[in-house]
Amino acid sequence: MKLFLLVTSLLAAFSAADDPTKEPADSKVTVLTANTFHRFVEKHSDDVVLMEFYAPWCGHCKQLAPHYRSAAAELATMDLPKKVFLAKMDDSDESNRKLRAGAEDMYNFTSYPSLFVFTDGEHERYGGAREHEGIVFHMAAVARDLDPYEEELKTKPGLYKSNPDYATVINDLDDEADFAKHVVDIPDNKLHVVEWYSDRCPFCKSLASEYVEAAKKVLGKSEDKVQFHAVNSRVFYDLAESNGITGYPWVCFFYEGVKVEDMAGLGGADSIVNWVNKKIGASWHEPTAEQLAAQAKWTEGGGDEEEGSCGAPPVELPAFDKYLFELDKAAYKEAVTKLMADMMAAL
Ligand SMILES: *[C@@H]1O[C@H](CO)[C@@H](O)[C@H](O)[C@H]1NC(C)=O
Repeated sequence: MKLFLLVTSLLAAFSAADDPTKEPADSKVTVLTANTFHRFVEKHSDDVVLMEFYAPWCGHCKQLAPHYRSAAAELATMDLPKKVFLAKMDDSDESNRKLRAGAEDMYNFTSYPSLFVFTDGEHERYGGAREHEGIVFHMAAVARDLDPYEEELKTKPGLYKSNPDYATVINDLDDEADFAKHVVDIPDNKLHVVEWYSDRCPFCKSLASEYVEAAKKVLGKSEDKVQFHAVNSRVFYDLAESNGITGYPWVCFFYEGVKVEDMAGLGGADSIVNWVNKKIGASWHEPTAEQLAAQAKWTEGGGDEEEGSCGAPPVELPAFDKYLFELDKAAYKEAVTKLMADMMAAL
């Protein structure tokens, strides 16, 4: 037992030094354990709490950590109708597994980080952005009793978002991450046609229905070879600029992660259909064996796990571990003795 404790504390000491998920002393993020979790949630039942279940080894959790910390700090200074608290718990920690946080009857998650908003005695999955501004925006909206998703849409207007008939054929992208994920990094062997527009430009507005009509026509024949996107370059100016876009509306296409060509002479739907079909003929090729392998790997990775997350261990603890912390002292001692005996026998 002593040896076991020594090894665990050594491991902890080694990893703490360069662990970005470790909160410094002045952090506004409350670090919870299985023992403090319920008390904390109860204590803040009249406040708004953002709860993160994470693992220190998970890259996405490491990435989130500084944003989470700075968002907590900013939210703590804001004058909101309800107080907002950010907390987190290392769900992968052996001593915290007893909370069974990922279990279906608890918070029902299978990946890290998993984030939940606790408010008015209820909890729901956090679906906001994972950077500083996005977290502050989302949580401040909840504290003001507003729908954070509706508020977000108001700040990021998209010509193709509000109309469901448009949204099913045109992928109105949001930020650089969204763009990278759906246009550049995706190994789907498709031509990615992008229209760069401004939601305030009258000509762009009148072109929207033409672009949708063109997309429908092309997709009707070549759904496996092409996908249509749009970016509001008024809002995502940097993204447009870094892709060499100097005006709007502007149409270009990407293939295999790079921008291939800009469309000249943008007219009505037919001009777009003709151009895209020509480009499919000129650029599209059957996927290579390598690409097929990349696709399979990508689909596998994205299949089970949520995007931007790491897999969490299943919560199927033996009944013994599950209830260990609920036992009284004598029963606990007996259980631990049995566990040790089992462990020794297994060696
Ligand atoms: C848990 O999540 C899974 C996957 O999202 C879902 O299918 C299932 O119904 C959920 N279970 C409960 C009890 O909510």
